[in-house]
Amino acid sequence: MSNKSFTLQAGDKTVELPVLSGSTGPDCVDIGKLYKETGSFTYDPGFMSTASCRSAITYIDGDAGVLQYRGYPIEQLAKHSNFTEVSYLLMNGELPDAGQLAKFEHEVTHHTMMHEAFRTFLYGFRHDAHPMAMLTGMLGSLAAFYHSDLNLDDPEERRLAAIRLLAKVPTIAAACYRYSIGWPIRYPKNNLEYVDRFLHMMFEVPSEPLALKPIAAKALDLLFILHADHEQNASTSTVRLVGSTGANPYACVAAGVAALWGPAHGGANEAVLTMLNEIGRPEDVGSAIARAKDKESGFRLMGFGHRVYKNFDPRAKIIREMCHEVLNELGVNDPLLEVAMRLEEAALKDDYFIQRKLYPNVDFYSGIIYKALNIPTEMFTVMFAIARTAGWVSHWLEQQNDPENKIGRPRQIYTGAVNRDYTPLAKR
Ligand code: SDX
Repeated sequence: MSNKSFTLQAGDKTVELPVLSGSTGPDCVDIGKLYKETGSFTYDPGFMSTASCRSAITYIDGDAGVLQYRGYPIEQLAKHSNFTEVSYLLMNGELPDAGQLAKFEHEVTHHTMMHEAFRTFLYGFRHDAHPMAMLTGMLGSLAAFYHSDLNLDDPEERRLAAIRLLAKVPTIAAACYRYSIGWPIRYPKNNLEYVDRFLHMMFEVPSEPLALKPIAAKALDLLFILHADHEQNASTSTVRLVGSTGANPYACVAAGVAALWGPAHGGANEAVLTMLNEIGRPEDVGSAIARAKDKESGFRLMGFGHRVYKNFDPRAKIIREMCHEVLNELGVNDPLLEVAMRLEEAALKDDYFIQRKLYPNVDFYSGIIYKALNIPTEMFTVMFAIARTAGWVSHWLEQQNDPENKIGRPRQIYTGAVNRDYTPLAKR
């Protein structure tokens, strides 16, 4: 706790507000007593200047383009780690030793099955329902299977709920995909690693063995690492807000999936592919840039810009490199990659984007890899949700242990009518 403070002059009243410091990053002014001392709220739509909690999970420096999970630079984790190990790190705060990793892998592996009643629930959707709608519903229904005997005061039960979510989301995600294309749902194979197990549930057909190329698992594991967590983003903040009421953790993560679906957030990766397809040719990039700069057009460069990064999103750089590796290894020549690269090149030279510090974000190139792996566009945000489940459950666990955790209940500026008397219908 620092002994620094901000002095606020509120009319004839002077208020000292304590300043809080973390292990790094901007200081925070503690305004908890502001309303009581001044009768005024703060106003910060979109929480542009508001810290909602203390957290030790992920650190971002948006100006420097820095992203660290539990203090480890994302570049090092992308190069040396894997998604299961990163999930352990996010949940527990430290990299596991060999025994801890083996135990964690065994636990996750043995919680991948779904209750058979899930099939009935899943088959109730229209077959062409968006997979994110199905995933939201299916995860919410997990709360129906794990609620009555769930004691959230027991840390071991909280940990088990996190493990179950990490383990079951890929199974459910793959089931949603298989149902949408009319293929039989596959059971998870426990002899496979996390990503291979998921790819098998997605693409294995009864009629022939699945010939998976190693680059597919390598690329997807990398994308899962890069998407695993990102501080207090919209979907993680949603999970925390729902968690602050003491709600069922499966319902909390279902709310996070719903928040992630929006095109301003995780839904952007699907929107980028739609945009690249609409632009179509490298020679049409110029008109797309012009439309993105024209406020009247309502068009934005999807995959560009970020609330926090005012420099390159470090994840975008890593994904762009992986794009080339995947396409080369698979012998795929995707013209959309050329369109994306020309779009990036043009935007980064354009004053409109330079002045607003708009750079490619995590969603700009990821869809090109998913497409090369034969993952359909509507499943792109589902991929994001599988990975971000690691972050969501880690933040939920941290919040449940936070002594400062209290129900989230913001106030407002009221702009409606005041003190009106009821007018009988005959007189309206
Ligand atoms: C993710 O928070 C996270 O960490 C999220 C995420 C994670 O890992 O969880 O990183 C994942 O959600 C990445 C972002 C994916 N979304 C998109 O790619 C959608 C396109 N980008 C934007 O809509 C926008 O950049 C946001 C939503 C990402 C950020 O919006 P902000 O911070 O609220 O900024 P803003 O909308 O106020 O824009 C500031 C200015 C505006 O122009 P002016 O009014 O100042 O003239 O920049 C312009 C905007 O019009 N602008 C864009 C633009 N993004 C912002 N103009 C054209 N194209 C864009 N993409």
